[in-house]
Amino acid sequence: MKRKKSYQYRSQKNKKGKVLPVTLISLGIIAAGIISWIGLNDWDLEKSYKKIEQVIYQDANESEDETTKPANTEENVESEIIDENNEVEKPGKEAPEAEKPEAETPERDNRNYIEGQELPKEPTYIKDVLIANKQYPLPSTYSPGESKEAREAFSEMAAAAKLDGFELIAFSTYRSYDYQTGLYERYVERDGSEAADRYSARPGYSEHQTGLAFDIGEVNNEQYFASAKFGETEAGKWVAANAYRYGFIMRYPEGKEKITGYMHESWHFRYVGIDIAKEIYKQNITLEEYLEI
Ligand code: DAL
Ligand code: ZN
Repeated sequence: MKRKKSYQYRSQKNKKGKVLPVTLISLGIIAAGIISWIGLNDWDLEKSYKKIEQVIYQDANESEDETTKPANTEENVESEIIDENNEVEKPGKEAPEAEKPEAETPERDNRNYIEGQELPKEPTYIKDVLIANKQYPLPSTYSPGESKEAREAFSEMAAAAKLDGFELIAFSTYRSYDYQTGLYERYVERDGSEAADRYSARPGYSEHQTGLAFDIGEVNNEQYFASAKFGETEAGKWVAANAYRYGFIMRYPEGKEKITGYMHESWHFRYVGIDIAKEIYKQNITLEEYLEI
């Protein structure tokens, strides 16, 4: 008990002993600060006092600015977007998502055609590619004939196939609007329009009218012309694997009917040029997907 008391006494004494020097040092620092401040203000007391006032007043204003800044109102957000758009107009920059006008997707019927659509006056090019499908028809007067470039590419491909033992033939290429009309009508008569629409284009909608579509088969194997079985033959497999090297793509691949509008046609190839064909083949996509339509 006695021991404890003497310990408390000593500790209180120690604390008291420290208070005085700490107070003296603090006062010394404050005095030195005041003297230095007055010194910095040319030993002018009034000037020193005003400077302190200025500092306090400025701080108060700044913090007020922060709190009174308007929140992100719609108007502000809009003007930010407009500013960005000004930049966006420089080539190579994309418009921000929020400002992009919503792409209009016209209503398609259950056969992938656009109801009430009329044939256009001009053919449609997207990314410099001529497109003919159920949403992008051709003018009835569009009659370019078979594409020379596509024919040359086909000949090169046929020569390469021959070296591998396959004799290829293009049994249907350019078809005029009138020819397609007769063909489609015959198919409708035979199978009904619902079935025909899955494998035959209505007049004005056939890619054959572009002169760039080649229906490919094997000489002496006519039984596989325009037949799903062509894809199972060695020649069919060769074309499927190599056509892109010559600029052709399989236009209506398996499982893509919803996108292309047609059931799989292992014989129908479309010339798009080597660069695009490679891209489409390697990405395993359709022309529609490539063109983002
Ligand atoms: N067989 C394709 C879809 C056409 O008729 O053009
Ligand atoms: Zn075809």
